[in-house]
Amino acid sequence: MRKFSVKILCPVVGAFLLSGFIAGSSLYAQSAAGASMHNKNDPWWRHAVFYEVYPRSFADSNNDGIGDLNGIASKLGYLHELGVDAIWITPCYPSPQKDFGYDVSDYENIDPMYGTLTDFDHLEQQARKDNIRIVMDFVMNHTSDQHPWFLDSRSSRTSAHRDWYIWRDGKADGQPPNNWISDFGGSAWTFDAKTGQYYYHYFEVAQPDLNWRNPAVEKAMFGVTRFWYGHGVAGFRLDAVDTLFEDPLLRNNPIGKDGEMINKYNDNLEENHVVLRRLRKVADSYDAVLIGETWTDNIQQLKQYYGANDDELQLPMNFMFTTINVLSAPKFRRQIGMMESSGEWPVWVISNHDMPRSYDRYGDGKHNDQIAKLMAALYLTLRGTPIMYYGEEIGMENNDPKRRQDVLDPLGKTGWPKNKGRDGERTPMQWNAEKNAGFTTGKPWLPIPPSYRTHNVATEMRDPNSILNFYRHLLELRHHNQALLYGDYVALNQNDPDVLSYLRRYRNQAVLVVLNMSGETRQVPLDLSPYGFGSGKATPLLSTLAIAPPSGHLTRVSLDPYSAYIAQVDLSESSQR
Ligand code: GLC
Ligand code: CA
Repeated sequence: MRKFSVKILCPVVGAFLLSGFIAGSSLYAQSAAGASMHNKNDPWWRHAVFYEVYPRSFADSNNDGIGDLNGIASKLGYLHELGVDAIWITPCYPSPQKDFGYDVSDYENIDPMYGTLTDFDHLEQQARKDNIRIVMDFVMNHTSDQHPWFLDSRSSRTSAHRDWYIWRDGKADGQPPNNWISDFGGSAWTFDAKTGQYYYHYFEVAQPDLNWRNPAVEKAMFGVTRFWYGHGVAGFRLDAVDTLFEDPLLRNNPIGKDGEMINKYNDNLEENHVVLRRLRKVADSYDAVLIGETWTDNIQQLKQYYGANDDELQLPMNFMFTTINVLSAPKFRRQIGMMESSGEWPVWVISNHDMPRSYDRYGDGKHNDQIAKLMAALYLTLRGTPIMYYGEEIGMENNDPKRRQDVLDPLGKTGWPKNKGRDGERTPMQWNAEKNAGFTTGKPWLPIPPSYRTHNVATEMRDPNSILNFYRHLLELRHHNQALLYGDYVALNQNDPDVLSYLRRYRNQAVLVVLNMSGETRQVPLDLSPYGFGSGKATPLLSTLAIAPPSGHLTRVSLDPYSAYIAQVDLSESSQR
């Protein structure tokens, strides 16, 4: 497959949360890097909140209109205060930028538009002081066609790097070797006149696939990870990890009933796992984490990426949520249930640089801010590791190009007008209500939507009911609440068509999460006795209800449209006996 007004209800809890924010830092430092770090059964990445930074769009330090590493360094204070433990930076290596960095021409350097290796080291050291780890993006499947390896490879059939890529003769009639199609459209094969053969590219023409069957490729690429571990990175997000291997016989892919190609022979091949096990060994020797861009059809396929002996990826992303494009309690419940039944540690994602922002995907045009909070309450209270996308926390919206000539993303150029590409979800971070949202004084590389005037960091910081403050409270809760850290997941009211409710249970305490995914007020019955909390006393932790129920025994709760209610449930001393 390829492709959410804060009210702190309880004054005591409120005071705690706020003091946490001010003390910043010390409270937070303990949870992020302290106790859990050296415990093998409870490694740091399990409770870390990851945050995806698209470097072109985060912060521009030299005002050329393009974000850069010094820009990211200047915003570490913000990320720290938000409650982020690790940032994943999408590719910032030297690149012709045909696919905005996912076409790498040198894996062991920084593109001058983003800075220098020295800037990277500075960023890494500064981040370390704030207990923020750095995860780099490892583009394993392909290089740029301008990478010296490919330049050599295409120079002659006998060049030293010829076999580093996948070259084949065309068919007798000159047609491509098989029917495989590129994710960017057209044949996945491009004819290179110089040597009279085709090369294979799962993605854009300028992104030739590496031949992972060649041990020299593995050696060089594993060396790249060692290089960055040497620069202090905490791990990698592995790009397009499902497409590393292709069928050696290059058999034609079958076509499904819907007329779409089924990528049987060039996606999710067994051989991927063999390489991942070896890559994990290297990662383990640096105590590093591997996150996967694991597009899978189902949970069984996803499960394989953890490795039969937990010896592959610690954090293969579950993209199933991102395929749900409507607010639907049954759909989310079902996906959570499947993930939970896999027995693996979940990785929750609702947005990234390849799909329309969650703000628009789930928003109904009228209650988008409410819905943004609702979605945040969902993926930040589930068992597992969440990966945020920059701007989600302020309710950034997609800003799709209006005219074809404005499109920058290669996918949008070929897909227009049906597919406007990914520019819309990659626009500059909105820092304040000033010119260019405070991102740059130059001309931003992509246009900023008008909503920046209300949806920006500075404005939302001042508003206690903002999406941003809701995220901050949620992240604070996640870092300190035992049930959210260690609790199991128990689905409640499993037949409710509108309200998603669950418990996170840990010993004598639980956190109750009730999310109204409908535009109507809903009465939700709460019988927690089957789960051992029938006599529990609920104390509201965080909610978007206009009037939340007071602390005490709860048998039902009334939920406003699109509201979220999160409460701590404790068993009293007497009921424990
Ligand atoms: C991944 C990236 C995407 C890129 C593609 C090719 O899917 O997330 O942005 O275009 O790989 O590298
Ligand atoms: Ca810049």
